[in-house]
Amino acid sequence: MIFTVAIDGPAAAGKGTISRAVAETFGFAHLDTGALYRAVGVKGGDPVLAAQTLSVEDLARDDLRTLEAGQAASRVAVIPEVRAALLAFQRRFARREGGAVLDGRDIGTVICPEAEIKLFVTANAEVRAHRRWLELGGDEAQVLAALRERDARDMGRAAAPLKPADDALVLDTSELAIDAAIARAIAHVQAHLRAAPKQSPR
Ligand code: C5P
Repeated sequence: MIFTVAIDGPAAAGKGTISRAVAETFGFAHLDTGALYRAVGVKGGDPVLAAQTLSVEDLARDDLRTLEAGQAASRVAVIPEVRAALLAFQRRFARREGGAVLDGRDIGTVICPEAEIKLFVTANAEVRAHRRWLELGGDEAQVLAALRERDARDMGRAAAPLKPADDALVLDTSELAIDAAIARAIAHVQAHLRAAPKQSPR
């Protein structure tokens, strides 16, 4: 069965947690596409070449989750040739046999506009910065400033800007607990799968 769940949204909105839970529930493969851009960002050198030659080792680095890696990712993500180099891999992953969940910024709009399910997970900047600060520590005001800078770059770029697909279900987690957000996402996928009953939750 080919079944794609596209989960987009800004940093620290809860996309990763929701994606992992959906993938686990339905036995789908999961791809965190932000890790691809982070790996390109921290690799250094020519970003286009880095994207074209991205390796398993690059994706296994232990410094991909830092604030700096997030900023570096969003700087290389504005380059159309970098995005083009990462596109085929993401598309293949999305349409693999057995179902796939991809989270990122442009999955429902560019990578897989034909996705069966599209979610746009968002929350206000203060809430997201607070969550990221709990994860990473440091100075909360600085975390908020970095997040706002990254939002502006991701939403303002010409190539595949961050925005909800017209047919995406928007989940605002500003005041919605993560468990409730996960339950809504799972219910939404389940409702869709009822039309194709061969796939049942584990
Ligand atoms: O999701 P994460 O915070 O790891 O993404 C890091 C950065 O990579 C984002 O701020 C964005 O600039 C870029 N990105 C992107 N398209 C995606 C995933 C991430 O442009 N599909």
